[in-house]
Order: sequence, then C-alpha cells, then structure tokens
Amino acid sequence: MSNPAQRANKLFVQTFGTTADDLYLAPGRVNLIGEHTDYNDGFVLPAAINFHTIIAIKRREDDLFRAVSDVYPGKINSWHFGQEDQVHPEDDWVNYLKGFTSALAASGLPAKGMDLAVVGNVPLGAGLASSAALEIAFGTAVNESSQLRLSPLAVAQMAQRGENQYVGSASGIMDHMISALGEQDHALLIDCEDLDSEPVPIPESLSLIIVNSNVPRGDFDAEYHLRHEQCEQVADHFGVESLRHLELSMLEAAASELSDVNYRRAHHVLTENRRTQNAAHALQAGNIAKLSELMAQSHASMKDDFEITTPEIDTLVEIIAKVVGTQGGVRMTGRGFGGCVVALVDHDLTDAVVDAIETQYQAQTHLEPTVYLCSASDGATRLDDELYEL
Ligand code: GLA
Repeated sequence: MSNPAQRANKLFVQTFGTTADDLYLAPGRVNLIGEHTDYNDGFVLPAAINFHTIIAIKRREDDLFRAVSDVYPGKINSWHFGQEDQVHPEDDWVNYLKGFTSALAASGLPAKGMDLAVVGNVPLGAGLASSAALEIAFGTAVNESSQLRLSPLAVAQMAQRGENQYVGSASGIMDHMISALGEQDHALLIDCEDLDSEPVPIPESLSLIIVNSNVPRGDFDAEYHLRHEQCEQVADHFGVESLRHLELSMLEAAASELSDVNYRRAHHVLTENRRTQNAAHALQAGNIAKLSELMAQSHASMKDDFEITTPEIDTLVEIIAKVVGTQGGVRMTGRGFGGCVVALVDHDLTDAVVDAIETQYQAQTHLEPTVYLCSASDGATRLDDELYEL
C-alpha cells in the first residue's frame, strides 16, 4: 500500500485497535538560495516540496501522548504533557515530538494528549528537513486538537524552540517556517529577522530537480555549530547583534582585524543575503539567466568562503551546470557536507539533466545519485477527505 494517508490510518488501527479521528500532513523543504543565513537574521528562499510526514491522530481526554512510527512499528513511545524528562538518544524521532510539547508547557500553554501514528516519505538524512516536517505535522495536530489557536508562524516558532532547547540542535527558523507556511508553486522569501515572509511564484517553465549526492555524512552537527560560533565572533567584533546588521563595506574595510577564516564566513553570509533578495526578484521577473548566475555565485561562496561543500557535491553541480547553462540554476542546498543539490531548469532540459547525472556522476565519484523531480507544495494542513489520494 503506497498511499501514505492510508498507511498512516492502517498503522494507527494496527497499533491502537481503533480508528483515527484526523490526519495531519507537513512537507519537507528545499532551499533555493540563502544558506546559513537564517541563524544570522538574514534572508532565505525555500520551497515546501511534495514529500510529506503524515500523522493519524485520536484525541485523548487525559494528558498522555502515545506515538508509533512506521519506521519502528510495534514500538509505542509514551509521555505525559509537561513531563518530557530527558532526551533519549535511541528514540531519536520521538524527541522531536517531545520537544514540541515541552516548548508548549514551558510557554504556559496547555495541551490534551493524543494517540498518533506517523508515516512519511521525506527522505531521511538527505537534508530535506524531515525532522521539521515531523515537528510541524505534530505541532499542527496538537494546535488544532487542543484548540490552542496558534498561527502557523507561532507553531513554527514553538517547533524551533523545542528543537533548540529540548533536542539540543541549534537549527534556525527556515525549515519550520517553510513547512508551516509553504505555498503551492511558490517559494517563500523569509526575512529571518522579523519573520516576515513573501510568496514568490516559481515560473511554470521551470522544473524543480533535487539530487541526493548520497555522500556519507560526517559530523555535520559539530561543523554547523562551529559556523554559528564563527559568525557570532564576527558580529561581536563589530558590536552588532547579528551579521544582518553589518555592511559589506565595513567588513571589507576591517578585513585585517579578523582571521582569514572568520572574514570568509562573514563574507559568505553578507553576500548570500544580497544574492537571496536578488534571486527572489529574478524569479518574480522570470529572469532565469540572472537566477542562474546568482545560484552559481551562491555555490562558489559555500565552497570557498563557508567551506561546506564536498568534492562530490561540486562535481554534481558542475555536471548539471554544463547542461543547463543560463537556462536554469544549480547549487548545493541545505546544511552541507553532503546532502542534496537543487536545480531549477527549463522543462525542455529536464531529461538531459537527468541523463547527464545518471551517466556521469557515478563514473566520477563512485556514488549512486538519487534524483527527485519535485514540485513546490502547500505547507502543513489537516487532510480533507478529498486529499486522501496523495
Ligand atoms: C539546516 C538548519 C537550517 C539552516 C540550514 C542552512 O537545515 O536546520 O535552519 O540553517 O541548515 O541554511
């Protein structure tokens, strides 16, 4: 049975011996441009994608949560609201749910318990925000079933708080916001300082291609935290709250006061903020040649200034860029050190791009790529009956 909504219902019945009340869904995401800018109060341009986490739920009258996932069928994890205790590393996925309820409890908001069954098809560990999809699907379900009346943005903020404070991951707000607020056929330009967001239509002429490099991922948590620290050190040096408040000209003028590494880290963030706003304008105007140039510059900056790409990822980007030329853009997407590449390319070139990846990537890197042809999707929602045919 491949329909995820049916699978969620089936897992619920098998686990809890009764039918679910409702189904909730939240998407994974791909970031078109604006990398490592969110935790520097900068700009990002992600799109929600048609890969989802789906949760079947039944409300309870007490404060108990019982959760099962199709990854570990038969294993029920339970906790009481506000009594999440400590994180259990072996129950990785449940910690994201407990993070959400613990953030609610810490904010003084009440919630009723629920039984829930989780299924999904967001590729795990690929850098497509499967954990944010899980948190936002769950958060949306809790919000509605306990009638908390939180806005989608507030659900996203609560999920980020849970992830930062309970799970202990320093992620920014991008993944949560796009999973909660995504719009079909649009990317979202998010200003991560005031959390304003603006939908930007993706031209109909473009295909959204995501390619997983399948590079074995190293300790990217440590590298991610290190990048955070380096950016903070530069902000501290200039006495500004975040790199958002630093002008490129000031950074350039004071280059000799900083270590070479810290200078390049900040240079990436400041130039990436500009590129991201310009890319949103280029998309809006249908100026694909400009988008192509900005995505190429973004990749080079991630490679040389921020140092988060790998040789295999660079190879993949080169293979695609050669086919696409100025008729589309390509860059690494997400946290880096492996993961995926995103390409927005003229429909007419889709087959040629896929063909080039399949014939050249493995030959050059000895890694097998995984290609996803995607579309930009809506954010989290309760599933109506007519949407069950996902
Ligand atoms: C991860 C984090 C995001 C963001 C990206 C890099 O996906 O969860 O908040 O920082 O890395 O752009």
